Amino acid sequence: PNPGTFANAIDTDYSRSELRDRSVRALEKVRAQLGKTYQPLIAGEYVTTETTKNSLDPSDTSAVIGIVGQISVAQADRAVAAAKAAFPQWRRTPARERAAIIRKAGDLMEVRRAELTAWVCLEAGKILPQADAEVSEAIDFCRYYADEMERLNAGHQFDIAGETNRLHYQPCGVAAVISPWNFPIAIATGMTVAALVAGNCTLLKPAAPTAVIAAKIAEILVEAGVPPGVFQFVPGRGATAGDRLVQHPDVHLIAFTGSREVGCEIYAKAARVQPGQRHLKRVIAEMGGKNALIVDEGADLDQAVAGVVTSAFGYSGQKCSACSRAIVMAPVYDTFCERLVEATRSLAVGRADLPGTAVGPVIDAAARDRIRDYIAKGKQAATLALEMTAPAGGYYVGPTIFTDVAPDATIAQEEIFGPVLAVLRAADFDDALAIANGTDYALAGGIYSRTPDHLKRAAEELEVGNCYINRGITGAIVSRQPFGGFKMSGMGSKAGGPDYLLQFLEPRVVTENI
Ligand code: SER
Repeated sequence: PNPGTFANAIDTDYSRSELRDRSVRALEKVRAQLGKTYQPLIAGEYVTTETTKNSLDPSDTSAVIGIVGQISVAQADRAVAAAKAAFPQWRRTPARERAAIIRKAGDLMEVRRAELTAWVCLEAGKILPQADAEVSEAIDFCRYYADEMERLNAGHQFDIAGETNRLHYQPCGVAAVISPWNFPIAIATGMTVAALVAGNCTLLKPAAPTAVIAAKIAEILVEAGVPPGVFQFVPGRGATAGDRLVQHPDVHLIAFTGSREVGCEIYAKAARVQPGQRHLKRVIAEMGGKNALIVDEGADLDQAVAGVVTSAFGYSGQKCSACSRAIVMAPVYDTFCERLVEATRSLAVGRADLPGTAVGPVIDAAARDRIRDYIAKGKQAATLALEMTAPAGGYYVGPTIFTDVAPDATIAQEEIFGPVLAVLRAADFDDALAIANGTDYALAGGIYSRTPDHLKRAAEELEVGNCYINRGITGAIVSRQPFGGFKMSGMGSKAGGPDYLLQFLEPRVVTENI
């Protein structure tokens, strides 16, 4: 594949009535299946468990999406042993065949697009167009990493007279994937298929709130032809089963996306060499952000307001790329705030499956309570410019905006992961950049400006993995905007980019004297 030729999956055009009808039918079909039980898949068998966990609809907590079996520590060990046993065969399977299986998984997701979108909508509380875009991203990850593996499989050759030198890539071994609930199909699929296509036997441990969607990914991978033991679905408690996977001496790499707290813990635990372990573990960690958009005095305020609102309140601010700080230059500060508050007020807050909803619920009760605590802290430290009311029946938090926020205030420093936006005033452009870079994180960020010098400086100086100019800062597209951050946001790896698969591979060089 040539760079630039990757064809992204196409999102559903909901302006077409037949596609809207298809989505209504899919929601009905999925609703009729709510409350079923999903079992872990170990060594090719669905297994019973001692404990289960209910997954609820965050829009309406009286609805149980599914009941998910939770593996024990002994079952985690069994799964790792099965992965280890399956590895010799999978590593010998030609990269082209592995890629074909993963492409087929992407094709099956396209066939089931409306249904998968409905599951994401109901289980994660994500509105339909955003759930649909996430299904596109999952399909893209399958196709892109399949292409990438075929590209890398060619290796490199560095020959001189009398000597050949060939570099090739081999898989690492057993991979544990620990996936988040906020992109329950895209990120879980992306990390899993990257590990698989690279030739690693892979265990998927999803976040509990969206474990049913992960069970659907498991169904699809099995149907696509991933052999028993090569892929295993291992839902379970992080503190027990997840911890065991991280510390197991036969696990070679851990791909994690989630909170900073858990990511740092995994990094530390994986570094400790366990008895019997003969390798160092790799940790691929994608963590949080405290993403900022700078709005300067020359910005097109119509664009800036729309971009900040979408980036801050889309999926209730629960994207790791969400804008949680707007840094606005003093001359336009008051006008911007006024227009921002009015634009936000027009957002409909409610059930994720209703067509008119712009802002759905947050994921669970713990998230709602944590966000409410941050709002209470904000009220003590800054001016409350807007707090929208939250409907009853689900885990709702109304979009909230604070103005006159000091750069060192808690709500300007800590990741809230909810629909809460801090607006900060910058005296000049140097000040704006210093405020933007003044957190522990470096994930996404951007600027609205029409001043060439500001655009150039933002592109060079904003400490972010993904810098967006005159547009919103969420919704990175596979192969176009490889996504990921550095500092406390992660290891600097870029999902959906040309460096990503290298993290799942060991390079080897064979030199022959001829
Ligand atoms: N990739 C997502 C985005 O860009 C965040 O995980 O919004």
